Amino acid sequence: MCRTTQHNETSTTTRSRTVSQWLVFLLVLASTPTLAAESPDAAGTPDAAAQNQRLGRGVNIIGYDPLWKSPAKARFQERHFALIKQAGFSHVRINLHPFRDTKISPDHKLSEAWLATLDWAVQQALANRLLVILDFHEFNALGENPEANKDRFLAFWRQVADRYNGQPSEVLFEILNEPNKKLTPEMWNQWLRQALAIIRQDNPKRTVIIGPASWYSINLLEKLELPEDDRQIIASVHYYNPFAFTHQGAPWTGNRDKVGVSWNCTEPEQQAVLRDLDKAQSWARQHNRPLYLGEFGAYDKGDMTSRVRWISFVARSAEQFGWSWGYWQFDGDFIVYDMKSQKWVEPIRDALIPGSP
Ligand code: BGC
Repeated sequence: MCRTTQHNETSTTTRSRTVSQWLVFLLVLASTPTLAAESPDAAGTPDAAAQNQRLGRGVNIIGYDPLWKSPAKARFQERHFALIKQAGFSHVRINLHPFRDTKISPDHKLSEAWLATLDWAVQQALANRLLVILDFHEFNALGENPEANKDRFLAFWRQVADRYNGQPSEVLFEILNEPNKKLTPEMWNQWLRQALAIIRQDNPKRTVIIGPASWYSINLLEKLELPEDDRQIIASVHYYNPFAFTHQGAPWTGNRDKVGVSWNCTEPEQQAVLRDLDKAQSWARQHNRPLYLGEFGAYDKGDMTSRVRWISFVARSAEQFGWSWGYWQFDGDFIVYDMKSQKWVEPIRDALIPGSP
């Protein structure tokens, strides 16, 4: 599963199995039966496990694109949806920052202009046969000051759930990216129920994605309490370990000046990743929930060879566990697509989608 070069996919697939690969194989064998159901419900929405399989491989898009404030300044264009599909991805996760990007009125109404942009993005994704996740991404505001932001958070879901309730099952909702800091695990367990209740009023069958507190950390899954009787939920985690490698040089972390960290896909390195992912898999098995790895990636300041190794290893491991995944992110940073040259960053794209056309 480890890529030793940037471009040669086939050379690695023929390498003999490592201990870690056998470990994944055995773990997958042990975990398969509980996530198997695939029958559509009466209303025709596939169940959560089937929805998760349909999600498959995806990419995070337009969270940091100027298009929300000014469509004329959009980096992301219609053609990029087609390119994403052609490359072999099957979904996009749209990162929504309504507090940043719209003037929300005192009664928390989203602006028509912002909603029109979202309509466009959803339509384009569907037209290109991509599933689309509407990911509420105001995690910083909610983590810093949860109570002050609670009403507009719930108001967001009231409006979005109402606007998109007629959309097909290819549209999924994600209640809140990475709850953190002052939004404690205990609060989050209550808030997610409140938001879900709002969504369920007019979206009884919509597939909803929910992750644990503390930045969707695998270690916090054990504190996540999902409503037992709601089975249209996909659980989500994010993965960026080892952090000193994936976030080297990243200015918003303590690692701005710490670069030169490689990831060599050694046996101990592989096992550290697999131990983490297996912890999530054990939780998923125990709670009978499908898992979506909604973000993983390695920042652009790391060396490309290491990044390709890590991305490829994490993506393939997630797939062997039967998870869907979304790469962080299309452009901006951690890029898999270079907006300047209008070209894929091929080593990253190929690590994500081996044999991508
Ligand atoms: C945040 C980004 C950040 C990324 C990796 C995302 O959830 O929205 O700002 O770059 O995680 O740290």
